[in-house]
Amino acid sequence: MDNRTNTIAGWALAGCTAALGLSIISGMYFHSERPENMGYPIEGVETAGGAAEEIPIATLLASADVAAGQASFAKCAACHTITQGGANGIGPNLWAAFGKPHGHVAGFAYSDALTSIPGNWDFQGMSDWLASPRRYAPGTKMTFAGLSDPQERANVIAYMNAQGSNLPFPAPPVEGAEEPAEGEEAAANATDAEADNAVEGNATETAGENATAAE
Ligand code: HEC
Repeated sequence: MDNRTNTIAGWALAGCTAALGLSIISGMYFHSERPENMGYPIEGVETAGGAAEEIPIATLLASADVAAGQASFAKCAACHTITQGGANGIGPNLWAAFGKPHGHVAGFAYSDALTSIPGNWDFQGMSDWLASPRRYAPGTKMTFAGLSDPQERANVIAYMNAQGSNLPFPAPPVEGAEEPAEGEEAAANATDAEADNAVEGNATETAGENATAAE
């Protein structure tokens, strides 16, 4: 009786192991085929959000609502000011942060996790950061879960950019569509095939894969 039970248990366990192995392998396969984190790949990191993540930041910014972004910034105001010369709080003052290095306020005690990230704040980087600060900069001191809605992030970014940075937004990818104003739908469709044009700097990374996805 005991032996029998053990045998059955053994086969059941073997079955589970095989199923687990298969799901790991297929998971790896699908991941390698379709990058979820467009435009700003960080080793071993995925962006929260899923399908909506595929709309490029340029497209989202083109339809961003600064007033809505200002309203959303209430979620940040517990820790940040964004006025010129505003005081640091739990987080640094955010005036004119775009185009500046990670950790742009002299004298603020940033984490190494943030300041060790190369390059300056750009729109894609800010969107990834606001989606999930701890994924963008593992070990960051910014204990904020993130904004999961890509359009809300774009709204906040448009508002932040208007506070002292005023960098021009990247042109949304609209080849094949009549007008940028045609709406997100058309732009988003055009994007799948033409993300290589849209995602500057990471063209080699994403172009081939998107070409496959668009087939
Ligand atoms: C609970 C407090 C808290 C909240 C809420 C918060 N932050 Fe932060 N933020 C921080 C801290 C602390 C840092 C410094 C992080 C580090 O050094 O790792 C930071 C850093 C930043 C930076 C980097 C600034 C620089 O000089 O490089 C940006 C940009 C930023 N936050 C934007 C936001 C936005 C936008 C929101 C709202 C959507 C927000 N934060 C919400 C605490 C917060």
